[in-house]
Amino acid sequence: MKEAIEKISQELQQLKATTQKEAEEARIRFLGKKGEITALMEQFRTIAPELKREYGQKLNELKKTAQEKIEALKSAAGETKTEATAQDLTMPGDSFPLGSRHPVSIVRQQIVDIFRKFGYDVAEGPEIEDDYHVFEALNFPPNHPAREMQDTFFVSTGHLNPLLLRTHTSSVQVRTMESQPLPIRVVCPGRVFRNEAISARAHCIFHQVEGLYIDKNVTFADLKQAILLFAREMFGPETEIRMRPSYFPFTEPSAEVDVSCNICHGKGCNICKGTGWLEIMGCGMVDPNVLKASGIDPEVYSGFAFGMGVERIAMLKWQVNDLRHYFENDMRFLSEFATATEV
Ligand code: DAH
Repeated sequence: MKEAIEKISQELQQLKATTQKEAEEARIRFLGKKGEITALMEQFRTIAPELKREYGQKLNELKKTAQEKIEALKSAAGETKTEATAQDLTMPGDSFPLGSRHPVSIVRQQIVDIFRKFGYDVAEGPEIEDDYHVFEALNFPPNHPAREMQDTFFVSTGHLNPLLLRTHTSSVQVRTMESQPLPIRVVCPGRVFRNEAISARAHCIFHQVEGLYIDKNVTFADLKQAILLFAREMFGPETEIRMRPSYFPFTEPSAEVDVSCNICHGKGCNICKGTGWLEIMGCGMVDPNVLKASGIDPEVYSGFAFGMGVERIAMLKWQVNDLRHYFENDMRFLSEFATATEV
């Protein structure tokens, strides 16, 4: 036993540990349940009684030395650890990539912001709509092609007022006329759905912003002025507009609006197909039948409406002419718009 105690105490003197782990291993080796000092303590119980006093004292000292030494090693290892991993607080932080808004959201927001400046509120409606709000109240004749399965996604068929995915945001006009007091001045941004084969020019899901203004004495001149101001805010102060006669069931008269091509400035390029003009929206004076259907007297009130595709405006603004890019969420495409927030 004497030799064993001496051996351990020599070893303790030379014991080194550079990490917490090594210090803990030393503790286990000497003082753990199966440790060398613990084993000596066990042995001590069996030695001759006349030796107990001497060895008892020696063993207690050994244990105490071991405990102190290991404690010291542990705290020293702790200090070295802190030194080794000390942080330089003046170093720049880890950078991580910032996301950016989707180009369609950016343009939708720009359109909405422009009309907000003109005093329009924002109105929204359900994407799953009924036939009444998408077609019936908007003066669509009963056998209009939009009411066919090949143009519209139906959710339920068979009864008088089937549920469907709205094919345009004009349905929100109807909901607004039903629920809000006059005069009405709203823009209605939202997603719309059409049963189309996906190509560079068509998609089954896209976005529109609808506009509606109803008051006493609203005229086509007001419509023209609103659209001209919008076009100049959106495409630049030099922009001109032209209106071509058109047809929509819910407006009379109806027009299609073109803006002067902001790429070639009228000279003719491949974006405007040599015409100098780009089509941006449909519009017109709200048909008296539409006002009547929502309980508004067309003898007292008149109004105008317009509707535009958000992707179409985005395509013209950024000359990205394949619609599919806007839906594929390819990071290489989306990150191009990280700084494109200016109107
Ligand atoms: N709803 C039409 C469409 O989806 C767009 C439209 C045209 C809306 C003329 C209008 C309008 O409010 O007056 O093609």
